[in-house]
Parts: sequence; structure tokens; C-alpha cells
Amino acid sequence: MSTSISRRAWFKSALTAGAAMPLGLSLVQELMAAPASRAEVEFLSSLNGKLVRLGSNENPYGPSSKAREAIQRSIGEGNRYAFDQSQELKEIIAAHEGVTPDHIFMAAGSGEVLAITGMTVGLEGGSVLSAYPTFTMLMNFAQKFKARWDKIDLDKNMAHDLEAMAAAVKPDTRIVFVVNPNNPTGTVVDHSRLKNFCIEMAKKTTVFADEAYLEFLEPAQQQSMVELVKQGHNVIVSRTFSKIYGLAGLRIGYAVAKPDLIKKLEDKQLGTILNQAALAAAKASLGDQEFMSYTRKLNAEARAYFTDYLDRKKWFYGKSFTNVVLFPAPKSGKMILEETMKRGYQIRVWDYQAKEWCRVSIGTLDEMKSFVKVFDEIVS
Ligand SMILES: Cc1ncc(COP(=O)(O)O)c(C=O)c1O
Repeated sequence: MSTSISRRAWFKSALTAGAAMPLGLSLVQELMAAPASRAEVEFLSSLNGKLVRLGSNENPYGPSSKAREAIQRSIGEGNRYAFDQSQELKEIIAAHEGVTPDHIFMAAGSGEVLAITGMTVGLEGGSVLSAYPTFTMLMNFAQKFKARWDKIDLDKNMAHDLEAMAAAVKPDTRIVFVVNPNNPTGTVVDHSRLKNFCIEMAKKTTVFADEAYLEFLEPAQQQSMVELVKQGHNVIVSRTFSKIYGLAGLRIGYAVAKPDLIKKLEDKQLGTILNQAALAAAKASLGDQEFMSYTRKLNAEARAYFTDYLDRKKWFYGKSFTNVVLFPAPKSGKMILEETMKRGYQIRVWDYQAKEWCRVSIGTLDEMKSFVKVFDEIVS
């Protein structure tokens, strides 16, 4: 059975199951990447595993060779629950972040941290405040558990509007969620402005800083909000091995926060014991400067090729520092999804401010060259 057929069949059966179990349906949608537009709702079930994947902000160069070797070596431990390896990696991550292990929550991707946090907001009652568009998983889970989501539009440069967000905090805001660099725009906010914002907001509520793409910035710019955790602020930081390290399919990420916040996350974790391959790959990858700079360099070249095309077309886009670019759809989103998919490419379409926007993940330079050719034919 081909990947596309089995994936579609699984999606359909999950949809059927979802009729009886609303939570099941929502989880499937999360896994398939929650639709971000009407165009995608009509299209979600026909996503095809064989497409050139410019739709999920993955790293086309990963896993690194060190990670691949570590995965192979870990296979012999496949019969053993990874209790020791989990503890070992937690200690390594804690040392890497400059905190003690009780500040670290290990998860099956940073998405699990977002889901648990969103669920907690709902269960405890309250609301979550975030920019929009941004990565919506925390808010999607909060809403599933009946919490309110207050969305604040990005500023004119497609970056977080921190002033507007600060003004929108309400007495029941349980989480202020910031993503820096942001997805779907790749934009960043200045570190000291964001730091001051987080300090002020953390006096009123809990701040969640999603740093999934931080390592796409040059090392001197990779200023994490973990600094605020160390100072005792009410801040949760999530990090992932999915992006710069290219381990998205292995599902491993973590959060850094004060021990009392970490305990709250652990209390709601569904008993996940991470798997041997992911733990081994993460251990081999953490802090691998050579692989990170290799990815950054190739990604920057391919991104420049793509944004040069957008510049030639005189299309607006936010300045991306990561592996994704968002720009207004030059034609109907549904048509663009259909035609790009027919030609073998998967991208995303978002609805924002009553317009449709194309979100294109940066693939290899060759993929971007062929994509630009195809995209230009479609929209010309
Ligand atoms: C901003 C952001 N946070 C978190 C995630 C979740 O990634 P993962 O669960 O693979 O760590 C993503 C995935 O695209 C993302 O874009």
C-alpha cells in the first residue's frame, strides 16, 4: 500500500472515529497540521506523502550523520524502556541550558508541551493571549478545553505587536504566548524588547516563549528567554529537536521552567516514555555547531533564492530569519493548493485579515528553484 493511500485511509477512518470522539478528530487535525484556511479545509484529506514537502517547516538536511549513527546504535536497546536514557538526556539538557534537571520537562516534540499547556488553561479556566498568525497548537488545545483565545494581529512588519498584546491582557489571561522567531512568518522581535515584555507580563500571568526556531538565528543572536527562567520569572520556554536538528519525525523536545511549573506539566503528561532512537539522536545532536551552521547556511541560500523571486514580483512578505516565508496569495488559495499539489509540491494557505496568504517552507536550493518555476506558471 502506498504512503498516500494508507495515509488517506487512516485519515478517513480517524474522521469516522472522530464523529464519536470529538477529541480524536481534533488530534488527527493537529497531526495533519491544523487547517489554517477555508482552502485547506477542503484540501486536507488529499495531502499526499510523495509531495515535495514545503508545508511543515522541516529540515531537508537532517538528521545529521552523528544522529543517524546514534539511532543505529540505539536499535539494540529497542527492547528496553528508556528510563535511564531519558534521565541521562534530561541531565545533559539541563547542563546545556545552565539549570538543574528539575527545570526540564521532556516531551514527544515541543508540540506536546504546547498541547499540555493549552489543555491546562482550559481545565483551570481562563484565556490565552497570543499574536496572530502564529503557531496555534497551544491555543487549539486551550479552545478544545473551552478556554478563550484572544488574538492580536501582527504589526505592519508581520512581527509580534508587543504593545497591543500588553494592552490586551485581561484578569483571566492564564498564558501570554509568544513565538520568536515566529511561525508562519519567520519574523523576530528585538531581544531586549521581548525580554522586557516577558518580565512585565510574567508579573501578571505565565508567559510561554516558544523558541522552536531560535537556532536559525546566528549564534550571537540566539538569546533565549531561559535567562528569565533562571532569574525566577514565571516563564515557560519550549525548545525542539525537530527544526535545526532535523529530527521532526522522531518527536522529541523539551520545556525549561521553574520546578513548580514543570511539575504542573508532568502531572498532565499521558505517561510518555520517550523512545530510544529519539533520545539517542537528540543526545548526539544537542549543541552540534557544525550541523547547525551547515543547515543555517544552506537554508539561508535557498531562502534568499525564494525571497529574491518575491522581490522581483514586488510581493510583500515579513522578513524571515527561519525556514518559512508568508506572503499574500497572488491568486485564489484553493487554486494555488490544487495546482501546486498537482505538480508535486505541498505548501500551506492561511486566512488572515480577510485575505489568503501562502506559507512556503524553505526546502533545498534545487527544490526552491523548481518550485519557483512551477509557482510562477501557476500564478502568472
Ligand atoms: C513555532 C512552533 N512551535 C512548535 C512546533 C512543534 O514542533 P515539534 O512538536 O515538532 O517540536 C512547531 C512546528 O512546526 C512550530 O512551528
